[in-house]
Amino acid sequence: MKFLVVAGARPNFMKIAPIMGAFGERLKPPDSVLLVHTGQHYDPNMSGDFFTELGIPQPGINLGVGSGTHAQQTARVMIAFEEVCLRERPDWVIVVGDVNSTLACAITARKLGIRVAHVEAGLRSRDMAMPEEINRICTDAVADLLFTTDALAGENLRREGVPAEKIHLVGNTMIDTLYRHIESARRLPLPDGLCPGNYAVLTLHRPSNVDCADTLAGILEAVLDVAARLPVVFPAHPRTLSRLSQFGLLDRLEAQPGIRRLAPLSYLPFLGLVARSRLVLTDSGGIQEETTVLGIPCITMRANTERPITCAIGTNVLVGADPARIREAALAALEGRSRPSAVPEKWDGKTAHRIVDVLLAGNSTA
Ligand code: UD1
Repeated sequence: MKFLVVAGARPNFMKIAPIMGAFGERLKPPDSVLLVHTGQHYDPNMSGDFFTELGIPQPGINLGVGSGTHAQQTARVMIAFEEVCLRERPDWVIVVGDVNSTLACAITARKLGIRVAHVEAGLRSRDMAMPEEINRICTDAVADLLFTTDALAGENLRREGVPAEKIHLVGNTMIDTLYRHIESARRLPLPDGLCPGNYAVLTLHRPSNVDCADTLAGILEAVLDVAARLPVVFPAHPRTLSRLSQFGLLDRLEAQPGIRRLAPLSYLPFLGLVARSRLVLTDSGGIQEETTVLGIPCITMRANTERPITCAIGTNVLVGADPARIREAALAALEGRSRPSAVPEKWDGKTAHRIVDVLLAGNSTA
């Protein structure tokens, strides 16, 4: 059996790390695994540093596709990945998450008759304005094996007609990585002047939040209010930084001494920062899950989430991009008015081994 594991963008790397580790422990020649990086993300702080920190082997193949419009990026990955599949002839292609690389490689493999496993299947925001929602639905539609993080994701898939035997509730590989690295992350120094439990972390990069000047300005005003009470650390995504500058908002942000803007952080410093924070303001997907496991209040600046379990039993609250709701949720967290939270079933650090068990058992209906 030959497996190709695909990673393309920042949120993929922590999801594939434990899968590569589990394959490394379990595969016996002539079985083999090959890691393919599409190159969707390419800067050291968006990609390379993650490989070093997470101990992921250097990708055997890098497609080097880089940035572009959705169609350009997806098409470039498909063209380059098709050549890889034709040359390598894998039995399985394993894709994770919901980025453009996930969709592109899933479709390419399936059309060549290669079996596809999707890790983090079945998540749905029901918001087709989100490119990731389109990627999730289309990837799941062509996948032969669907590995889910929670029971709600399995229900979504069954409602869409996916046969139950293709769906495996395995837990969350990103949380495998969190448990593996949390102790060393907590030991890293915090940025100068920050004390544990006494700062907020902000991440912001969704096109729906940062590509419209009025929306971004509203979020910024709410964040500035929070920063007047508590330091806010802001590792800024390249897209967000360029929009702040384009909309003339960067000076406003820099004028508030409570805001500490940083370059994007790699995995360990970011995890260490979040784990010791008082609260997190974000529009990310994965951070909603990480904060739930860490028990840190998470204020998600989105109208919906594909990860509702984090709201149902975790620390997550959805507030959209409404400045008043952002302020109110931050105040509630600061005053300790957060509800008790729990960790979802099977988010226990053993997910990658469950996935590899299923794959090696040849447990496929394809
Ligand atoms: C992508 C994913 C998103 C994920 C996010 C995490 C899709 C549709 N979106 O969005 O789900 O949450 O990654 O970051 O796949 N850039 C750099 N350096 C890099 C990579 C990108 O400067 O290494 C800049 C480029 O200007 C690029 C922009 O960031 O145009 C956006 O990158 P892109 O990969 O298109 O999407 P993300 O917004 O990062």
